Amino acid sequence: MQTQCGGCKQGGARCCCRCGCHSTAASGGGARLCSLSIPSGRSRGGGGATEICRSPREGTRKAGRQAGRMATRMFEGKDHARVYQKYRFTPQEALQKAVFSYLDRKAGAFGLALDVGCGSGQGTLLLASRFQKVVGTDVSPAQVEEAQQAPHPDNVSFLACPAEELPVADGSVDVLTSFTAAHWFDIPRFMREAERVLAPSGCLVLTTNTLDMRLHFRDRDQELTRIFQEFRDLLTPYMSDKVRLVVGDYEEIFEAVPFPSKERITDIVDKVPMSVAELVGYVQSFSMFQAFLKDRPEEAQAQVQRLQERVLEAMGEASPEARLEFWNRQVCILASRGPVPDHDPRS
Ligand SMILES: C[S@@+](CC[C@H](N)C(=O)[O-])C[C@H]1O[C@@H](n2cnc3c(N)ncnc32)[C@H](O)[C@@H]1O
Repeated sequence: MQTQCGGCKQGGARCCCRCGCHSTAASGGGARLCSLSIPSGRSRGGGGATEICRSPREGTRKAGRQAGRMATRMFEGKDHARVYQKYRFTPQEALQKAVFSYLDRKAGAFGLALDVGCGSGQGTLLLASRFQKVVGTDVSPAQVEEAQQAPHPDNVSFLACPAEELPVADGSVDVLTSFTAAHWFDIPRFMREAERVLAPSGCLVLTTNTLDMRLHFRDRDQELTRIFQEFRDLLTPYMSDKVRLVVGDYEEIFEAVPFPSKERITDIVDKVPMSVAELVGYVQSFSMFQAFLKDRPEEAQAQVQRLQERVLEAMGEASPEARLEFWNRQVCILASRGPVPDHDPRS
């Protein structure tokens, strides 16, 4: 009989990843072990094994993993993952406010959060102070490796797996998030998975940056935004079909959310201060740019260099460390599967 959970290392009923290993073992259910021993990589406080469960559906998962990879090749490269780690920024104030004020009202508990399509983990980290345990998942092992290697608190871990086949027990997740990633998923399969893994009072949060991006610097906004849009136009031929879901402000994804209580906010604007060098790094994380780079590497690099020169010229600055503001409109889908809690779930 299993006395200690192989995932969270807690004995018997104290299993904190809620994998059901104790109840299954106790009821004679046999080998449904929570047996992950995936290394968590470096974490600020050391230790911190990944605490999540392998469910009996592992066999079918291989096919899912392959399907997931087919759709997302462009995020698989180590160079792309490195750019992500360096230049993607954490969801900012306005988006955080929309998300957390919703969760404070609607989430039934703040035990386990799963951040799906986590990339190099910037959004995942945002959840760390709110939840007992946070797991970032991504189909790209290169992205997961970057996330694991960056400093992260002990209650955060990362795991490579497709969004459509999450290795967690039914009803075990309090909040499922995805930041600028859901459009890459197989939506019908992902929604079925959300229905399966979310607890009865669980919430689903799907956000995305839109292509509505502006640059702000003193009185040069218009010119800078035009320069930026011209650069983005160069990338349009490399836009994946999936990005049309973003262009449509996630309306199609919203329609597919299977929970009765849901809302979609389309006018969240965050103003992100960054240097010109960071802006130029950030645009290189775009999937469209990566496709351009793959197709015409020299031309892509030259256009990035030109973007930097034009932006600096318009600002009247010489150093790439000069700072401006990047304004980005974001879309956020907030959904809850259960009744509104009538108490503060964290008290
Ligand atoms: C645009 S990035 C966003 C990353 C991160 N959430 C952020 O906000 O910076 C999209 C991420 O989704 C991941 N992804 C794409 N399809 C996926 C799938 N089917 N399952 C899990 N992750 C997937 C990619 O590997 C990539 O890291």
